[in-house]
Amino acid sequence: MNGLFISFEGIDGAGKSTHIEGLAQAFHAQGRVVTITREPGGTALAEKLRLLVLSDPMDAMTEALLVFAARRDHLQQVIEPALARGNVVLCDRFTDATFAYQGGGRGFDLNLLSMLEQMVQTTAVKENTFIRQPNLTIWFDLPAEVAAQRLTGARTPDKFEAQPLEFFRRVANGYLQRMRVNPVRFARIDADCTRDAVWLQVLSALQGRGWLP
Ligand code: TYD
Repeated sequence: MNGLFISFEGIDGAGKSTHIEGLAQAFHAQGRVVTITREPGGTALAEKLRLLVLSDPMDAMTEALLVFAARRDHLQQVIEPALARGNVVLCDRFTDATFAYQGGGRGFDLNLLSMLEQMVQTTAVKENTFIRQPNLTIWFDLPAEVAAQRLTGARTPDKFEAQPLEFFRRVANGYLQRMRVNPVRFARIDADCTRDAVWLQVLSALQGRGWLP
């Protein structure tokens, strides 16, 4: 069976987590082996880098380099081997988050991000060299105001969650721009509705591609 790489994106508070769990169960029920992972993170080294990125102040380029360093390790240690085994890889955030947060949110140069993306995600499988991208990206689209309300009082905010509303408007716009460039890869989910209604949209994105019955 071919490996399947699905990423989950959205501004903080958009509500990805329960749906990642739900999809893992749905794939299990189909007899698939599922790898659930996240970025930044997913390996011992990348989780250390995550701690730094989410807590220490740093300039946008340092942040971008660290998330791509974490991504490189994650791809090599976890994602590529899992895909080679034919697993379903469900990844909580991937490179679109870098374009949205470091690009849109922090204003870092998108062309430089594209260069890093190409360097870090270049993969060779047998004789084939290509740039690894998710087969599908589920984007939970939610107005920044609604996400902020959902996050109120939830827990101690990390460096990004503590950002003002305006930052998340730019992040949301960063995702929108990314979807415009990659319309086939992206499934936009209207996340401003009940959990059940969001789940039905997620499920239908997978069913529409013939990946779940
Ligand atoms: P998140 O995925 O929301 O995890 P949790 O639900 O545990 O808070 O947190 C990851 C944070 O890292 C989120 O605020 C977005 C940010 N981030 C970036 O800024 N750039 C990236 O490339 C990635 C993957 C995440």
